[in-house]
Amino acid sequence: MYKNNEWAVEAHGLVKVFGDNRAVDGVDLKVRAGSIYGVLGPNGAGKTTTIRMLATLLRPDAGSARVFGYDAVKESQIVRQLIGVTGQYASVDESLSATENLVIFSRLLGLGRAEAKAKAEELLEEFGLTEAAKRPLKNFSGGMRRRLDLAASLIAQPPLIFLDEPTTGLDPRTRAQMWETIRRLVKTGSTVLLTTQYLDEADQLADRIAVIDRGRVVAEGTVDELKTSVGTSSLHLRVEQASDVPETRRTIEQVLHAVSGVSSEAGVITAPMANADLVTDLLVALRAKGIRLAEMSVQKPTLDEVFLTITGEGAKNKEEASA
Ligand SMILES: Nc1ncnc2c1ncn2[C@@H]1O[C@H](COP(=O)(O)OP(=O)(O)O)[C@@H](O)[C@H]1O
Ligand SMILES: [Mg+2]
Repeated sequence: MYKNNEWAVEAHGLVKVFGDNRAVDGVDLKVRAGSIYGVLGPNGAGKTTTIRMLATLLRPDAGSARVFGYDAVKESQIVRQLIGVTGQYASVDESLSATENLVIFSRLLGLGRAEAKAKAEELLEEFGLTEAAKRPLKNFSGGMRRRLDLAASLIAQPPLIFLDEPTTGLDPRTRAQMWETIRRLVKTGSTVLLTTQYLDEADQLADRIAVIDRGRVVAEGTVDELKTSVGTSSLHLRVEQASDVPETRRTIEQVLHAVSGVSSEAGVITAPMANADLVTDLLVALRAKGIRLAEMSVQKPTLDEVFLTITGEGAKNKEEASA
């Protein structure tokens, strides 16, 4: 059926310029069919603009994009049949109820009358919107709209689904529900490309991630690869006897060859660790000195730290600055 079964998205050198603002400045993306791909970046990074080009809603100024092998510009009609974009569905008519809107979508997609009604009820139930089903859309909160939006995109369940910040502004419970739904979509055969400003969301959901900043992909890989590329893990250690802290610090410095960065606060000693294998040597050395440990862990960097390292700026600060 597809020209390319392996890659749901292949974009090369995508550019979009608004006035003198290069909103998207040469983006390459490859999304494997059947995966969840996360595009992670702060407000204004160019995420939505990128998605709009991939989804045939905006014409690129340069570069090319293919969806399952079909060109997003030259074969946009075919591409449109293969994709779903949340945001474009939410309402046919604001004065109609959620049920009526979903029934209309289902009918537009070719479902029969009874089938459309059953589908609408099933989706509203799943998204916890049964109570609100009869209310007109204009009385819906932002979170309810978002849920209805995703529900609408599930009627057809297209092979490739674009979700632009699907959980921004949602309460934790609804957010977790969204994550479950997204995972289910992929289990049942769809490919999902989602954008997010939440590092933990990309971490939780995505098989691969592109970190985008100022219209450019600044890092790409699996979550683990990104974390590893940032380098050192850190060692966290708590000793049973506070009086052992100085000797423990000396031992860590010797064994890990950590000349700087070893710190202790409230009895917890933290040290950078380039080579996780050395942790065995350290434990042996501490045991030999009779130092007893209360706690020990080796932690990979968080995605926040990854972002900070790659872009030189904290993602949180940017969000706040633009909010
Ligand atoms: N239609 C538009 N006209 C002019 N500028 C735009 C338009 N859409 C987006 N931009 C600008 O392009 C940049 C990227 O925006 P966007 O793709 O929405 O980022 P994100 O989705 O990552 O927050 C921003 O500087 C934004 O102001
Ligand atoms: Mg956006």
